Amino acid sequence: MNELLEEEIRGLDVGVLINNVGVTYPSARFLHEVDEQVWTNVVKVNVEGTTRVTMAVLRGMVERKRGAVVNIGSGAGIVVPSHPLFTVYAATKAYVDQLSRSLHVEYKRYGIDVQSQVPLYVATKMVSKVASIEGSSLFIPTPHAYAKAAIRRIGYEARCTPFWAHSLQWCLGSLVPESLLDAWRLSIGLKRRAKLHYA
Ligand SMILES: NC(=O)c1ccc[n+]([C@@H]2O[C@H](COP(=O)([O-])OP(=O)(O)OC[C@H]3O[C@@H](n4cnc5c(N)ncnc54)[C@H](OP(=O)(O)O)[C@@H]3O)[C@@H](O)[C@H]2O)c1
Repeated sequence: MNELLEEEIRGLDVGVLINNVGVTYPSARFLHEVDEQVWTNVVKVNVEGTTRVTMAVLRGMVERKRGAVVNIGSGAGIVVPSHPLFTVYAATKAYVDQLSRSLHVEYKRYGIDVQSQVPLYVATKMVSKVASIEGSSLFIPTPHAYAKAAIRRIGYEARCTPFWAHSLQWCLGSLVPESLLDAWRLSIGLKRRAKLHYA
C-alpha cells in the first residue's frame, strides 16, 4: 500500500506534511462495549494512516534534506493521566506522540523537523459531536484561531501545545493529583455515556 502512496506523490516537492487526520468513538463507551468496526477504524486511521503517510513523504524529504512533518496528537493521550471511556482513541494519540518525538530525533540529521502538536479542546465537528461542546470560548478556540497558533510553532520543539490557553490548562492540570484527574475524567466519560443511553 505504501508503494501506491509513494507512487502518487513521486515528483511532488512535499515541504510540509500535517497529519491532522483523527477519528474517535461516536460516544463514550467501556472498552467491552465498543464495536469491533469502531475501534479497529480508530486504530487504522489514527495509527496506521498517520504512520503510512509519514513514511511515504519521508523518502523524498530525505533526498532533498529538508521538510517538516507535524502530527496532531491530543491532550487525551498526553496531558491527562487517563481518558476513560475513550480509551482506544487516547491510546492511539499517545502512539502519535511517541512516534513523532522519536522521529524528531531520528530525522534531525536529514534536516527534517518532526513535531508532535498536542491540542486540547478546539471547537470542531468532532468536539461538538463527542463532547457536545458548541462554539468557542477562552479555552476552546475556533479551528481558525487554533490553526494560526499551530502554524507559528512549526520548526521549534519536538512537542508543543500551540494555543496559549491550552498550555495554561496543561500547566494548571499538572499541579492536580493524578487520582483527582482520573476521577474527573471518569465522571465526564460516565456522564457522556449516560446521556446517550437515556436520551
Ligand atoms: N477538536 C478537538 O477538540 C481536538 C482535541 C484534541 C485533538 N484533536 C485532533 O485534531 C485532529 C483534527 O480533529 P477535528 O477536531 O478537526 O476533527 P474532525 O472535525 O472530525 O476532523 C477530522 C479530520 O480527519 C479526516 N478524516 C477522518 N477519517 C478519515 C479517513 N478515513 N480518511 C481520511 N481522512 C479522514 C476528516 O476528513 P473529512 O473532513 O474529509 O471527513 C477531517 O479532516 C484529529 O487528529 C483529532 O484527534 C482534536
